[in-house]
Amino acid sequence: MQNAALRELGLAPEWSYEAIDVAPERFEERVRAMPEEGFVGANVTVPHKPAALAVAEVASPAAREIGAANTLSFRDGHLVAENTDAEGLLAALAGAPAGKRALILGAGGAARAAVWGLVRAGADVAIWNRTEEKAAKLARELGASATQQADAAGFDLIVNATTVGLDPEASLDSLPLDAQAIHERQTVVDLAYGPSETELARRARTHGARVVDGLEVLVRQGAASLRIWTEAEPPLDVMRRAAHEGGPAEPPALNDRT
Ligand code: ATR
Repeated sequence: MQNAALRELGLAPEWSYEAIDVAPERFEERVRAMPEEGFVGANVTVPHKPAALAVAEVASPAAREIGAANTLSFRDGHLVAENTDAEGLLAALAGAPAGKRALILGAGGAARAAVWGLVRAGADVAIWNRTEEKAAKLARELGASATQQADAAGFDLIVNATTVGLDPEASLDSLPLDAQAIHERQTVVDLAYGPSETELARRARTHGARVVDGLEVLVRQGAASLRIWTEAEPPLDVMRRAAHEGGPAEPPALNDRT
């Protein structure tokens, strides 16, 4: 996706995007060596996102408040940490979430970025999580509310930020989404994505909801990172096409696992 964008922008082959596998104990050393090697920045994925924030000298409010960075840039000898996960989600939603009622399912790292972004955008955010205390803690920290008996039908926006849908053992029945929960006046986002539509996305579409899939959120957060590094306007269609074509045998992943 990023290499397709770099080609489209006429920045390749000088610019290229590559995957680097690194163990947590080598992360800081690896990142600190990158500017010397000619890198202008990096996307950072699980489990390194909190470490990417910790290693940086400068951090955006999003990275600081989410407590994790998915984007690093190396500018004038400084390591700068940013987080485009929330921005990616907001960009993928067609309408502005201000004043809308949003239900976030989950309280892990993906949920945290979603809650932060939606609260900042003026939505009224409720968090449901299998482990209740984690929802309560996240709600307290980010200005949302926690709910255990979520009546999903009453929300304008539902975001699945759990790993249900990725885990073949886990069923959608473990989420508060019964047959009546989803309807045509809602937008349903599943941050999980894979080579084919997730079960939740399919169910939401069948019930007439507007569906935003995890791949679109991935494209939008990647585009926001590319904008930070290159200062060019990302070619969304090219990135979207490349993301949809990519990796035929890829296992499903949460959007912050890439
Ligand atoms: P990430 O950082 O990608 O968000 P995570 O931190 O492992 O991943 O969070 C996974 C989320 O999926 C959690 O909210 C988890 O709920 P718990 O906090 O109760 O563990 C949720 N989750 C995972 N499996 C689940 C299941 N079978 N039913 C409901 N929620 C599940």
